[in-house]
Amino acid sequence: MEARRELFGGRSAAILALAGSAIGLGNIWRFPYMVGQTGGAAFIIIYLASCLLLSLPIFLAEAIIGHRTHSGTFGAMEQLAPGTHWKWLGLLTVLSPLIILSYYSVVGGWSIGYLWQSVTAGFHADAIGTVSSAFGKFIASPGRPLLFHTLFLLGCAWIVSAGVKSGIEKFNKVTMPLLFVLIVVILVYAVSLPGARAGVTYLVKPDFGKITPSAVAAAMGQSFFSLSLGVGTILTYASYIHKKENILVTGLGTVAFDLLFALIAGFAIMPAVFAAGIEPGAGPGLIFETLPYIFAKMGASAPWLSAVVAVLFFVTIVFAAFTSAISMYEVGVAYLVEQKHITRRKATVLIFLGTWTLGALCSLSFGPLAETKIFGLTIFNFCDRLTSNFLMTFGGLLFVLFVGWKMDRQAVRDEFTCGGTVRFNCIVFDAFWFLLRYIAPVAIVIIFLTNFFA
Ligand code: PFF
Repeated sequence: MEARRELFGGRSAAILALAGSAIGLGNIWRFPYMVGQTGGAAFIIIYLASCLLLSLPIFLAEAIIGHRTHSGTFGAMEQLAPGTHWKWLGLLTVLSPLIILSYYSVVGGWSIGYLWQSVTAGFHADAIGTVSSAFGKFIASPGRPLLFHTLFLLGCAWIVSAGVKSGIEKFNKVTMPLLFVLIVVILVYAVSLPGARAGVTYLVKPDFGKITPSAVAAAMGQSFFSLSLGVGTILTYASYIHKKENILVTGLGTVAFDLLFALIAGFAIMPAVFAAGIEPGAGPGLIFETLPYIFAKMGASAPWLSAVVAVLFFVTIVFAAFTSAISMYEVGVAYLVEQKHITRRKATVLIFLGTWTLGALCSLSFGPLAETKIFGLTIFNFCDRLTSNFLMTFGGLLFVLFVGWKMDRQAVRDEFTCGGTVRFNCIVFDAFWFLLRYIAPVAIVIIFLTNFFA
């Protein structure tokens, strides 16, 4: 007999878990830079529109499948379209989050390494080049990054093996509010720095001239990644939400938190970057080169304050990475437990072994395996490109087509009305249905093609 399925304790637990999946490195190292480079406040408006008009409907489509079936990705497809090729979508969305997890864990490991350094030795440098070469040496050395990657994945395994309620829910309930408090503390510190105003201007000054078609595609792509769409994590978490909870409310809550965090992170990071007189950048360089250099520079005049902020900052990054990583881990565990009927503990170990191995290869691709190339890319870059440029958008497209064109309209509507128990404004559903069937598929194909030719 199948064991009773664990569910999240309530609406806030569900929103915190979904927001935990959404809020991650993407909010911290990509969003602030994109805003500054692509039109400031003008970009924020476009981003907001793509969250509401594109990403929210896709989010809801994925969530509806999970919520309706109370099953992981593969089981959900088998339930809604038994014996059809849709099962491949179920399988694809078990694999793609695990590939992301493998390299995400490597970066999570670097963050643990930098947290360790900020606690023990702090950052000292008189030029950004010194910090950059230290980072380059660190990631190229095989030993320490592998150790930290292992620690990061073990942390995820520990949380996930404790179960949906006592592991995932509990962890998110504690860390998500903490993350918001930490980022607000950093924000207050950053905007009080002399010269911070230029960073604020960089983010808010509207420049509608920069809103080109490719900027719009970039905004759509970022909102897609930031909300963890298309890889089954939203589906799997939604499958742990009680039937009586309304999926629309949960979706709106998640999008709001994700956006709020991205904005606060932007206003916490960019003023500090400008105050230190550095060119803003994105990606790993922002977190592991620019910011440590800022901490080193500020340490010269206020060593204690700078050291404390550095620790708080890396704690924020580590936790933001953990809450996202466990959502990907859970997709694989749910699959093994439900489809292969093994215990959660065994499933956790198997996922650990698989993702650790691929992650180790990704990690070594900065050093000993740097010359091993797949389609001209290192293993790390290949996994990153494959998932964020292709598998996420492809999975998202198929989920949208499935709910919009294959599922019964009334069944989908039931999710909005909680099976007819909640009175609901028809216009909202009709708008969602229209966006889902016509706008979302076209927009996803545009993102896909933009990624392909970029
Ligand atoms: N949304 C996460 C971020 O912004 O960092 C990344 C992510 C998490 C992508 C979970 C995919 C996923 F399944």
